[in-house]
Amino acid sequence: MPTSSQSYPMSGGDDQHSYIHNSSYQKAGIDGVEEKTRQYILENLDLMNLNPNLSTFTIADFGCSIGPNTFHAVQNIIDTVKLKHLKENQENCLGPLEFQVCFNDQRNNDFNTLFRTQPSSSEREYFSVGVPGSFYGRVLPRNSVHIGHTSYTTHWLSKVPDNVCDKNSPAWNKNYIQCNDLIEEVTNAYKVQFKKDMKGFLEARAEELVPGGLMIALGQCLPDGVGLYETWQGIVKDIIGDCLMDMAKSGVTTEEKIELFNLPMYFPQFSELKEEIEQNGSFTIEMMETVSHSLETMQLTNDFITSMYRAILSTVVEEHFGADVVDELFDRLAKKLSKHPIDFEICKKQMVYYIVLKRK
Ligand SMILES: C[S@@+](CC[C@H](N)C(=O)[O-])C[C@H]1O[C@@H](n2cnc3c(N)ncnc32)[C@H](O)[C@@H]1O
Repeated sequence: MPTSSQSYPMSGGDDQHSYIHNSSYQKAGIDGVEEKTRQYILENLDLMNLNPNLSTFTIADFGCSIGPNTFHAVQNIIDTVKLKHLKENQENCLGPLEFQVCFNDQRNNDFNTLFRTQPSSSEREYFSVGVPGSFYGRVLPRNSVHIGHTSYTTHWLSKVPDNVCDKNSPAWNKNYIQCNDLIEEVTNAYKVQFKKDMKGFLEARAEELVPGGLMIALGQCLPDGVGLYETWQGIVKDIIGDCLMDMAKSGVTTEEKIELFNLPMYFPQFSELKEEIEQNGSFTIEMMETVSHSLETMQLTNDFITSMYRAILSTVVEEHFGADVVDELFDRLAKKLSKHPIDFEICKKQMVYYIVLKRK
């Protein structure tokens, strides 16, 4: 049943700082696996077996945010299922198929913008449903989803582990705002929360998916043996922590406040992620691999990095420090990055994982 979760949606609306205009990095990841998804569905989805009398095909995107990436991802799935339906129809007498898409995200996601900016009803070949709630618990009825999708989501944990904010714990993360893997106790605390959350995610999806249904997941993880502090994404968030410290020195916030600020984010290593998925016995792992990302070898500009992180982090920053720090924080980030640009050549790379699970 529904479970509570800390919730920091991406920047809403459609102004220059919104996720809509600052999600091309994630879009490049989605584009990179589009063909794999098509191929897998065409070769393996068994519509007859799902239900020979199927008339409504249900797709759910978990952690859809406000678009436009979710619309691309679901459209690719719909186009492919239609093609597959056409092919199978030549052999079997399947009835016409209608599509329903369930857009899931946290309750305070900007669903108004999502639905206002979706393709118009004349272009859209599906019925839309908004599904507010944390995907770490059930958000949809049992046996109701044929294909689930999620991209760039499950590194957001349901909560910051308690002990990293506890001054008396060895896992107190006093000097950093994230789990950057420099302090073993901190990493272990985050790992425990990640395992709990991943278990909840998979158990909920196992109930929601029909037997034979697919769960497609895409996101970022670390190569085995690499710490987040060695990657550019980790470095940027450590620099954001430094900017906050500078702001404390000039009286905009306080060191005490920063010491209690931690991002509820955890990037597992590839084998750690695999282990969690293998432990859930409800799915077969049809595919689990790392894929390349078209922007991975590019020197991203400081403006791009600043805008991307502003769209991702401004709600969590606002909640802890107040709305008035956001402009200054990201101005400072832009300035620090221009003084000390990130050397993409020497940073270790995060990996993009692509997973297809089939409900047993
Ligand atoms: C980086 S965005 C990814 C959005 C979109 N899937 C994409 O690929 O562009 C992460 C999204 O996951 C959502 N999210 C994080 N934790 C969640 C949870 N427990 N339940 C539902 N959505 C969650 C956030 O609100 C946010 O919209």
